[in-house]
Amino acid sequence: MMDNIFTQSRRRTGWGLSVVLVVWGVWLFTPGLPVLWAPRAKAEVRAAGKTLFEHEWAPHDPLAHGDGLGPVFNAKACVSCHFQGGVGGGGGNDHNVLAFEALPTKKRPELESGLIHKFAVTNRFLEDSSSLRKFFPIVPGGVRIEGGCQILTRDFDPIHTKSINSTALFGAGWIDRVSGKTIVHEYRKRALAQLPRDFDPKSRGALPGRPRVLPDGRMGKFGWKAQFATLEEFVAAACANEIGLGNPRMDQAQPKTQWKYPKVQPDLDATQFRALVAFVDTLSRPEETLPTDTRHRQHAERGKDVFRTVGCAACHTPDIGGVSGVYSDFLLHRLDDPEHRSSGYREVETPQVPLPEDWPLEEEWKTPPLWGVADSAPYFHDGSCTTLEAAIQRHHGDAHDVTTAYAALSADDQHAVIAFLKTLKAPAGADPAPREAKSEIALGR
Ligand code: HEC
Ligand code: HEC
Repeated sequence: MMDNIFTQSRRRTGWGLSVVLVVWGVWLFTPGLPVLWAPRAKAEVRAAGKTLFEHEWAPHDPLAHGDGLGPVFNAKACVSCHFQGGVGGGGGNDHNVLAFEALPTKKRPELESGLIHKFAVTNRFLEDSSSLRKFFPIVPGGVRIEGGCQILTRDFDPIHTKSINSTALFGAGWIDRVSGKTIVHEYRKRALAQLPRDFDPKSRGALPGRPRVLPDGRMGKFGWKAQFATLEEFVAAACANEIGLGNPRMDQAQPKTQWKYPKVQPDLDATQFRALVAFVDTLSRPEETLPTDTRHRQHAERGKDVFRTVGCAACHTPDIGGVSGVYSDFLLHRLDDPEHRSSGYREVETPQVPLPEDWPLEEEWKTPPLWGVADSAPYFHDGSCTTLEAAIQRHHGDAHDVTTAYAALSADDQHAVIAFLKTLKAPAGADPAPREAKSEIALGR
């Protein structure tokens, strides 16, 4: 029998459509491409980047194309806050930065966030909570009449501040290459696996966390709140906010005071900025280093098994997207709950205006990668836990069931988990940090 041209083309379209649908379906339910190659950069580019990372910036610095350090800043060098275990590591609590969020109010519906800088090039530009208050005043409470009843509303303070500890940057280039699709894929897999038939959404043990999808649809991976999708963007923000270095991707931070600072040329040109990003991108990844003597090695190896069986690996996913030994799912979780107020839980005021859905709640934090954790104390976003034991004890909320199971382990098994965590070291080949970075650099006001 003969097909006419019309039915042929219809048949072809039908085929085409099914192929597209099948491909789309397969694409939707498969992870993204794994990371296949290590980050690389030319030796001279990396060396130029290292110089910029270690450089102690000054106002009108000869290396800068704009005004150099400031006008507001938290330290004079990247390495001042990133030095533990070598150049690029984490920092101690004396280098914590003070971050603020100004929640939206009826009069000011946009949410704002930033840093309250420790230092400024002149006193006029010095920031503190009271200079911030001028922009974000307390909204006085009052009496509201609702259904004939008088309802008292409390004063609403839109400003929330948090002290934030610096993270280690080793292996950041690998994390940069993990596709957002893979993270969402792993999340979906786990969410499905964790939903038993008698799923009770109120039960705390079954919460799989959530990915941070940024307003433009990309996945957030960097920062304690997963607030940046790429390493390059984080480096741009670190230059602008921590040291006051304007760059091709971001203007330098403006003082949050009544005084205006004039607009100047970016401090870093495109070549310098690319070199700095390349340096951070190619910092070696941390290494799992087992003790050499048999008894200690076996103890740590058992700890690695217990880490999985007790449930730590549910959030601290050992391998993701072809990057092995990273120990993070890159999702937001809530580890605080009302029963553990001493652990930092704070009753959060209801915002006057609903927050955007992608915005993390005050108590939501990204699972930090545990690679290199042996060399990155203190722990948690605020650096409040000085030891690994204390860090584990502070897991409540989403980790409630895992923490309970951990507490029920024998002391020997608990020690084995700690022994395993202590094998997660900064890369042995990291460049030694300059001595002055380790001791507090004198930062005059
Ligand atoms: C005053 C201390 C300080 C200085 C100086 C500083 N940082 Fe950081 N850095 C931090 C803190 C704190 C964090 C964690 C911030 C967060 O997650 O919100 C961080 C996080 C980062 C991250 C994200 C890492 C991750 O995996 O999430 C990168 C990248 C980074 N810094 C690069 C730099 C670079 C490059 C410089 C120099 C231009 C620099 N930092 C200077 C304190 C500092
Ligand atoms: C529900 C997810 C979840 C589970 C389960 C979980 N963690 Fe965590 N872990 C997190 C999050 C989120 C943080 C960061 C919290 C913060 O900074 O406020 C964290 C932080 C840590 C830290 C501190 C890391 C750093 O760089 O500051 C260590 C160590 C740690 N976890 C170990 C463990 C161990 C060991 C277990 C098992 C006993 C475990 N975690 C179970 C989500 C989880």
